[in-house]
Amino acid sequence: MWYGLLDISDKEFQDISRLVYKRFGIYLTDKKVTLVKGRLNKLIREKGYTSFSQYYKAVTDDTSGVELLGLVDKISTNHTYFYREKDHCAALRGTILPETLDGIPGRDLKELRIWCAGCASGEEAYTLAIELLEFAQRENLPLSGKIILATDISLSALEAAVQERFPFKKKFHMIFCRNVMIYFDKLTKDRLAEQFSEMLYPGGHLFIGHSESLGRDSSAFEYRQPALYKKRGGVTTWKRLTYVLTLDAEIPETNGVDVSAQADIICRSWGFFLFRL
Ligand SMILES: C[S@@+](CC[C@H](N)C(=O)[O-])C[C@H]1O[C@@H](n2cnc3c(N)ncnc32)[C@H](O)[C@@H]1O
Repeated sequence: MWYGLLDISDKEFQDISRLVYKRFGIYLTDKKVTLVKGRLNKLIREKGYTSFSQYYKAVTDDTSGVELLGLVDKISTNHTYFYREKDHCAALRGTILPETLDGIPGRDLKELRIWCAGCASGEEAYTLAIELLEFAQRENLPLSGKIILATDISLSALEAAVQERFPFKKKFHMIFCRNVMIYFDKLTKDRLAEQFSEMLYPGGHLFIGHSESLGRDSSAFEYRQPALYKKRGGVTTWKRLTYVLTLDAEIPETNGVDVSAQADIICRSWGFFLFRL
């Protein structure tokens, strides 16, 4: 049965956008009224509510969080595809992977850690997996282990991608967070950049979308090429790494960080999956 589109009042839109911002960092400006209305209408009807305010109440009353997940699933934009932002693949092959590997003791690929934050249905992470496999073949290096972690708040997008669920406990050599920050305001972006810097090994790389930028005051990163930043204070070469290790008698790079908990705070990513290569 078709009842027509439910209308959304200013207050209803403000309530929903405030909730989405607070819980997921997604910043819905007034220009997104049509998007919110269009994406939520069918869901609201299917659940038997007759207004946006009824639906909003149900979401905020639900302590299990299931309704909230359903909401963000509809609001988030999960568009993605293989080999998106090709320049990054070229940089990865040409410089970033070889450099990163030189900084890993024994050039042991299974120690490599990459985080795909906001991976949608996984094409980005699968692209990285293909790049890694090809790189390993060219370099004649063995490749196996839990190398790529991919996270997202949209569980339906993740369902299309999931191979295995598993928490990562180490820092990362690379973080890909591309075409995710466009949905955030400056405050959230700055906070995220800070958190990403904490999650990266010194000298690690942050890849963002080509239409995005890091705030100029993000002192934690140095610009490398469009949409590619390097964490400052890098210990990237094998020699310097050995030096630090012997000097400190402690391995700073393996300070265990429970990324699943961190990701909750940083990206509020409740879902994650991991490639076993
Ligand atoms: C446009 S897609 C980009 C996918 C992929 N990174 C790419 O570049 O092709 C944006 C993804 O970011 C996710 N996202 C948005 N806000 C997020 C948050 N706070 N935490 C985790 N993921 C988020 C969305 O669910 C969506 O799947």
